[in-house]
Amino acid sequence: MTDAAQRRIVALRAAIEHHDYRYHVLDDPEIPDAEYDRLMVELRELEARHPELVTPDSPTQRVGAAPLDTFGEVVHRVPMLSLDNGFSADDARAFDRRARERLGEVDGAIDYAAEPKLDGLAISITYEKGVLAQASTRGDGTRGEDVTANIRAIRGVPLRLRGAAPALLEVRGEVFMPVKGFERMNAALAARGEKTFVNPRNAAAGAVRQLDPRVTASRPLAFFCYGVGTIADSALAQWRRYSELLGSLRDLGLRTCPESTVVAGVDGCLAFYERIGHARAKLAYQIDGVVYKVDRRDWQERLGFAARAPRWALAHKFPADEVETAVTAVEFQVGRTGAVTPVARLRPVFVGGVTVSNATLHNMDEVARKDVRVGDTVVIRRAGDVIPEVVRVRAELRPPGTHPVALPTHCPVCGSPVVREEGEAVARCTGGFRCQAQRREALRHFASRRALDIDGLGERIIDQLVAADRVRSPADLYTLTKDELAALERMGDKSAQNLVDAIAASRETTLPRLLLGLGIREVGEATALALARHFGDIGALMDADEAQIRGVPDVGPVVAAHVAQFFADSANRELIDALRRHGMHWPVVVERAADAPLAGLTFVLTGRLASVTREEAGAALAALGAKVAGSVSKKTNFVVAGEEAGGKLDKARALGVAVIDEAALTKILADRRRPRT
Ligand code: IVH
Repeated sequence: MTDAAQRRIVALRAAIEHHDYRYHVLDDPEIPDAEYDRLMVELRELEARHPELVTPDSPTQRVGAAPLDTFGEVVHRVPMLSLDNGFSADDARAFDRRARERLGEVDGAIDYAAEPKLDGLAISITYEKGVLAQASTRGDGTRGEDVTANIRAIRGVPLRLRGAAPALLEVRGEVFMPVKGFERMNAALAARGEKTFVNPRNAAAGAVRQLDPRVTASRPLAFFCYGVGTIADSALAQWRRYSELLGSLRDLGLRTCPESTVVAGVDGCLAFYERIGHARAKLAYQIDGVVYKVDRRDWQERLGFAARAPRWALAHKFPADEVETAVTAVEFQVGRTGAVTPVARLRPVFVGGVTVSNATLHNMDEVARKDVRVGDTVVIRRAGDVIPEVVRVRAELRPPGTHPVALPTHCPVCGSPVVREEGEAVARCTGGFRCQAQRREALRHFASRRALDIDGLGERIIDQLVAADRVRSPADLYTLTKDELAALERMGDKSAQNLVDAIAASRETTLPRLLLGLGIREVGEATALALARHFGDIGALMDADEAQIRGVPDVGPVVAAHVAQFFADSANRELIDALRRHGMHWPVVVERAADAPLAGLTFVLTGRLASVTREEAGAALAALGAKVAGSVSKKTNFVVAGEEAGGKLDKARALGVAVIDEAALTKILADRRRPRT
């Protein structure tokens, strides 16, 4: 029986992978969706009956189990570089001229691969023996975040490559959200009273940086690849032209941009720019320009890289969209930390792909510099994903009788005095938690995904609870009853129960989430994590003085002052007590950075290891607090040399750095003990 089940499971997986390829790569499905769904259902049922036959690369295993608390770090084997930007035909011609000069004797035009510049986020995916092993964000180009669980959840990303897969393949490309999917998703979010996304790029980035892969799986994401990092052991490594490489990646089941093509010389590039510029509004995805890449690999290699970008490629950007409209009012918004921000209300205009009716004026210095007044005609610009801004006033169109905008003396929400300290651009409402606007923003922040992650506690509900004065601090959330919630506007019994459950579930949290949720000024996710690691529990942090907080790695004096000030305030200390009384709890962070077994030690791994991959070994070392570096220096404590170790081993010997073998490494990892140099 198991034999038959095994055979059927293998056949079903092969069929599903084939149909994924037809659908996602060839864009040419052979079967209707309902039939595909039936194959999945059958596979799921069989696997449920034979759990021993489930493999990680089975199409049923896209979405892994539990949500994460944070993302791990990935060191890119080959750095993920950026592109140089050009903004005009002249810039494109200069790029072509420089390439020809550097290459010397080029007869005729250079062949360029020309393709859209996708407006999503860059991702690197590693396949080991054809199986998706790791995926990471670009990060700072050298280190990114480990988003493997989320990238696996994207249907168009194969969990297993087709055909003869290389031993190791690092493929790079862009994760993005197609426009149609974006619109549908936003409509659904709006219907549920949840926050919508401003544009597909933000939505894609948000979905990839989700701690819960189930949420990522529910978002309509796609992936196009446009490059490779390391390739080991394969005919693929011999690619000679970029255009040919893309073809091979497609054969492996990866999707590439259908608009990618090869053109002759800079004139071909410029014609492509024009053509794509015209087609832009009709494309299924958003782009912010086009990219030209020298197609021949040997020429790419000869051209090489400048500091941060290859010399063989240019991003030719579309100009930022600018339009004119009228300022109908200037209002002041109060943020979470009391910052009072002037906002221009505009006659709605369509710009950069969205309808804009507000533009931030940042602060009063900006308002004065641009001299924006109610009644003015202004030029609005919206580039890529940025917030719309007022570029300038058309002063010659100003009607008579306008006045300069003045900062209100009192908060428009709570009436408390507004102060602007010497030398500060930002004015603040002094109402603190007495101000409903600050309270509202603080609660939104507390409930947000990266903080306490209270699903269903959206803006509308918070606004009602705050307006009714029912919730004054985050602790009050934990006293809400189902009946109270059900009485709110647009709340059914079921959603009220779900929200009560979500609030209850948020009591089991982590210290970094709580620290982030408290909304301490300047404390974002990274700082919250650093504080949690350093102090282990909140008591130690509350007792610490400013100097001790300043001792936390990556915490500067300004942040330390804000943190110390926050915990010096008795209202905030009471809030922590109240949250605890309501049952909020979190594990003490045991692996405090300073006492992790390998804290302060730097390892470099080189050569082939027999029992684990270098990545696994690196991850195991990092989990014990070690730093794993890519190159050997005097600061390196240990070089782990596997088989066929080369240059790094030589360098270690030259610098007198301790060299250990795999057996010693295994022992360190097993004992969790500090090795001696
Ligand atoms: S190639 C070394 N091709 O643009 C070259 N990048 O500004 C690496 N991007 O980080 C990039 N479309 O996120 C390349 N067709 C394309 C692209 C593309 C969008 C993004 C990518 C990269 C950024 C650089």
